[in-house]
Amino acid sequence: MVVPESQEKIYHPPPDLQRDAHVPDFSSYLEMYKKSLENPEAFWKEVADEFFWKKPATGPMLQYNFDVTKGNIFVKCMEGAKTNMCYNVLDRHVKEGNLGEKVAYYWEGNSPEHHKTITYGQVLSHTCRCANVLKQLGVKKGDRVSIYLPMIPELVYTMLACARIGAVHSVVFAGFSSESLCERIMDAQSSVLVTADGVYRGDKLINLKQISDEALEKCREKGSSSVTKCLVIKHHVLRTKTGTSCNKLQTSWDSDRDVWWDEAMSDSSEECEPEWLDAEDPLFILYTSGSTGKPKGVVHTVAGYLLYTFLTFKCVFDHQPHDVYWCTADIGWITGHSYITYGPLANGASSVLFEGIPVHPHVGRFWEIIEKYRVTKFYTAPTAIRLLMKYGQEPLQKYDLSSLRILGSVGEPINPEAWQWYYEEVGQGRCPVVDTFWQTETGGHVLTPLPAATPLKPGSATFPFFGVEPTILNEHGEEVEGEAEGYLVFRKPWPGIMRTVYENHERFENIYFKKFPGFYVTGDGGRRDKDGYFWITGRIDDMLNVSGHLLSTAEVEAALTLHPDVSEAAVVSRPHKVKGECLYCFVTLKDRREFDKKMVEELKKMVREKIGPIATPDFIQNAPALPKTRSGKIMRRILRQVARNERDLGDLSTLSDPKVVEVLFSQRSEAAT
Ligand code: WT7
Repeated sequence: MVVPESQEKIYHPPPDLQRDAHVPDFSSYLEMYKKSLENPEAFWKEVADEFFWKKPATGPMLQYNFDVTKGNIFVKCMEGAKTNMCYNVLDRHVKEGNLGEKVAYYWEGNSPEHHKTITYGQVLSHTCRCANVLKQLGVKKGDRVSIYLPMIPELVYTMLACARIGAVHSVVFAGFSSESLCERIMDAQSSVLVTADGVYRGDKLINLKQISDEALEKCREKGSSSVTKCLVIKHHVLRTKTGTSCNKLQTSWDSDRDVWWDEAMSDSSEECEPEWLDAEDPLFILYTSGSTGKPKGVVHTVAGYLLYTFLTFKCVFDHQPHDVYWCTADIGWITGHSYITYGPLANGASSVLFEGIPVHPHVGRFWEIIEKYRVTKFYTAPTAIRLLMKYGQEPLQKYDLSSLRILGSVGEPINPEAWQWYYEEVGQGRCPVVDTFWQTETGGHVLTPLPAATPLKPGSATFPFFGVEPTILNEHGEEVEGEAEGYLVFRKPWPGIMRTVYENHERFENIYFKKFPGFYVTGDGGRRDKDGYFWITGRIDDMLNVSGHLLSTAEVEAALTLHPDVSEAAVVSRPHKVKGECLYCFVTLKDRREFDKKMVEELKKMVREKIGPIATPDFIQNAPALPKTRSGKIMRRILRQVARNERDLGDLSTLSDPKVVEVLFSQRSEAAT
């Protein structure tokens, strides 16, 4: 790894940021990186010393097997140690660090008139109460709790309450459909569901309680009734909207099962002794799309996840005590788990917690919030940047963005045009852009610049974080040196990597470790340039990245074929100006049905109901037949080219009926949007 000497434009860290930074220059990064690989024991021990351990570790900082040919895959961090996540991110600050009065969250509602400030002391007391409520509802160590909530402080309290009593939370993004929620509840076999009556997202009112009721009903129909209690938050925005304690929503009620949060909390004590857990006990499950269509329950464990989210947050955002940090992601995704809940709290940071969307009630909302709270570190996704770019400089110019110091990007590759706009217009040429590459599975950043150390190349996630050893493999699984492109893999674990797929260790091994024994396979393509910089070239499996959310082609195809008039469906990606990628679907209908606008609407509805609005297809095309090989495998390469209108098709000799392709091109213009 060398500092680049090429002709490309390189952006160097600003000297004023370097002065007090945790990693102040590139040579410090190299030195620390070297230590993290050569002596991981000492490196991670030093990080662990920041935290409280009820019992010290008896095993090494990291033990693992990454080679399926040598036995089961496993990763263990600090075996034998006992601790508690909630204690470390709250009590430690309040009791030992004197941060009781420090702001943990500036909550900003969907509507700008709703906001409140919550201190570390308050988070602790609400969390303890919630922990006692969960215990009252019968939740014990190891039990799963599903959480289906909007971006409100209670979401954070509930996660931390689970962590406090050793329950395993499974947060389900509140934009998912009842079907998706049901699937996730059933897989986790949760005993409690925590939800809210409803929430406004922009102008749209979402009836979360009704969706939750439907999900629980579906679970019952499928023979699973693990959920015995449903804890319901009366979301105050709705209360104040209508001026009374009831709201516009008809909240149906099952008095044996449903419990109002407010009532339960008011009777509950603020004292709750943390449950001392083993370092490798599970902390949470978070579902992510799997290429077979069935979501995978990614499992993260207590100690390793604590160390890793703490250190990545501290170094990648160069956390300083007076920072106001804002990550715009939803906590329903891993970005929110690691960089709204756990990482910032582990560092004692003050964060903005935003319920709304970037364009409500006006397109300058993000910039207004940055000005209002004097945000210093801002972390968002390329899709949001591309959306806001469309409105030009004017909305930005109305607000004072001079507080900003560091900008972050996450979720998908950032195109150079969006990078430039982010850097020049939002950051006013003053703030490094940290393009953080990682996954639900990695727990935290794995390839990322460090803002005061790494010279930046727009579009590159640059170099590995401490303890992470990436490499590039070719088709045959051989490592390729120097400038190269191929499969992006990791040679060894870091503390925050996932431990298993919930209740399916075999699937975990198959997905991530079977293809190239000895390596964790990301599923992404990667390129290393002559200066050693890493560039993500995109997914190389059947996954799509729509607005930073991973979807599998298989799950969308499964939703489409649920329609009684569809005999077959194939889904591919097509580039999209704002979303990065969007869904282009080919459907073959049964003879009885014509392909028309009504059909398209029915199909879109089907996908929305089955998965959620994020999976709504942009294009649906009639396909009298799909291009297949003689063995019957759909040739997606060809479908991708039809979707993109690329007529240079190359070798079609493996197709069983090449005429199919012409038909698809001729019907292309009729693809309905
Ligand atoms: C996939 C993981 C990590 C939190 C959000 C997504 C893509 C993520 C980048 C980036 C290029 C990126 C990859 C990855 N991705 N960050 N900075 N540059 N690609 O989590 O849903 O688990 O998705 O998102 O394809 O594998 P996720």
